[in-house]
Amino acid sequence: MLMLDVKDVHKHFGQLHVLKGISLQLERGETGVLFGRSGSGKSTLLRCINYLESIDSGEIYVDNELVTPERAKLRKLRANIGFVFQQFNLFPHLSILGNVTLGLKVVRKTPEDEAREIALIALEDVGLKEKAENYPEELSGGQQQRVAIARSIAMNPKMILFDEPTSALDPELIGEVLEVMKDLSQQGMTMLVVSHEMGFARETADKMFFLHGGKLVEQGPPSEIFRKPKTEECRRFIEAIL
Ligand SMILES: Nc1ncnc2c1ncn2[C@@H]1O[C@H](COP(=O)(O)OP(=O)(O)O)[C@@H](O)[C@H]1O
Ligand SMILES: [Mg+2]
Repeated sequence: MLMLDVKDVHKHFGQLHVLKGISLQLERGETGVLFGRSGSGKSTLLRCINYLESIDSGEIYVDNELVTPERAKLRKLRANIGFVFQQFNLFPHLSILGNVTLGLKVVRKTPEDEAREIALIALEDVGLKEKAENYPEELSGGQQQRVAIARSIAMNPKMILFDEPTSALDPELIGEVLEVMKDLSQQGMTMLVVSHEMGFARETADKMFFLHGGKLVEQGPPSEIFRKPKTEECRRFIEAIL
């Protein structure tokens, strides 16, 4: 059962051809790691998947539903896809619990008590239940990113997209975030993760996708990608970051 089906997607920013016929698929429950140089189009691709950006041609299906700008469908799509960014984007004036319940209350219209219950379970999943009454500024960057992940989990999404979730963190805080993501992957969440954390990719990814100059030049399981990359670009890139 495909959860994500990206078919021959092209995207321009003005004259700049940023995505040049991207096709990739994730089965339900799979974790994909998307990597490649800065400017290769990784963020743009993620943004197209939940229609933060329009596409010029091609098609994207999430759980067999075509991604279109039609309002009602778009609202449903966005409610079904979690997005975790490099910057955690927590609301500073809301408690951790307030941050995690907000989407439930506003988007899902979940009653307060129930939202609280769901949020506490999500916070427990990321090991931060005891911080529910704290405020974002009282937490480390790693903890804040785990709250951002809990906020996604609480919405019970079909898939979560991660755009360099650990690249704004101090090195000693990266591991705890990757650990939470690994747990989530093992629990069967479908995830597409932009990351250059190759240890994480090796342990967690079902598939890796190497984007180069707007093209998906290589894909495969980590065993293949690490042992025997097919292209020179991919081989060099992996060598450079390892
Ligand atoms: N909103 C935008 N307007 C114009 N150009 C953009 C915009 N967003 C990204 N780009 C350009 O598209 C290319 C791909 O960017 P991006 O998807 O952010 O790459 P990556 O995430 O792989 O670093 C880059 O050349 C970038 O400058
Ligand atoms: Mg990016």
